[in-house]
Amino acid sequence: MLIRYKKNQEKIAMGLLSFMPVERDVKLLQHTMKEYETNPEWHLYLWKEDDDVIGAIGLMIKDELNVIIQHISVNPSYRNMGIGRKMVDEIKQLYGEKYDVSADELIQDFYHKCTEEKKDEKNQ
Ligand SMILES: CC(C)(COP(=O)(O)OP(=O)(O)OC[C@H]1O[C@@H](n2cnc3c(N)ncnc32)[C@H](O)[C@@H]1OP(=O)(O)O)[C@@H](O)C(=O)NCCC(=O)NCCS
Repeated sequence: MLIRYKKNQEKIAMGLLSFMPVERDVKLLQHTMKEYETNPEWHLYLWKEDDDVIGAIGLMIKDELNVIIQHISVNPSYRNMGIGRKMVDEIKQLYGEKYDVSADELIQDFYHKCTEEKKDEKNQ
């Protein structure tokens, strides 16, 4: 299930975000975490299964119309099991009514993969 990030989950969240190539630099990653903790327009969520936190997805509310997914990461032991797609789906459910949800450049291919297949399913 998707849960909103809390400060006491900082280490696990940083570990997950560090899998993103753009966040490999520790200083940059610390800056990113600070934004998620302090900037009201930056929202970070974690994916929890049983008691394990195995995924992270972060977004920015760009303006009153647009939400941009800017981070997504799944623990390598749990990849290719549909968790990334589930996180995207839940964010679209949470924000999709009020905002147009899209993804940052680095996440575009994955995001389109998730959303296009949904459209295909609807057409079947
Ligand atoms: C990208 C990532 C979050 C995907 O999570 P995941 O839980 O393994 O993804 P899913 O199992 O939900 O995959 C859904 C589909 O997207 C595909 N996919 C996975 N990663 C992809 C990528 N980077 N680009 C395009 N498609 C991708 C999968 O092959 C799968 O396709 P299928 O349904 O045809 O089998 C995960 O690989 C990850 O954490 N990568 C490292 C972090 C990173 O680089 N994030 C930014 C790039 S998106």
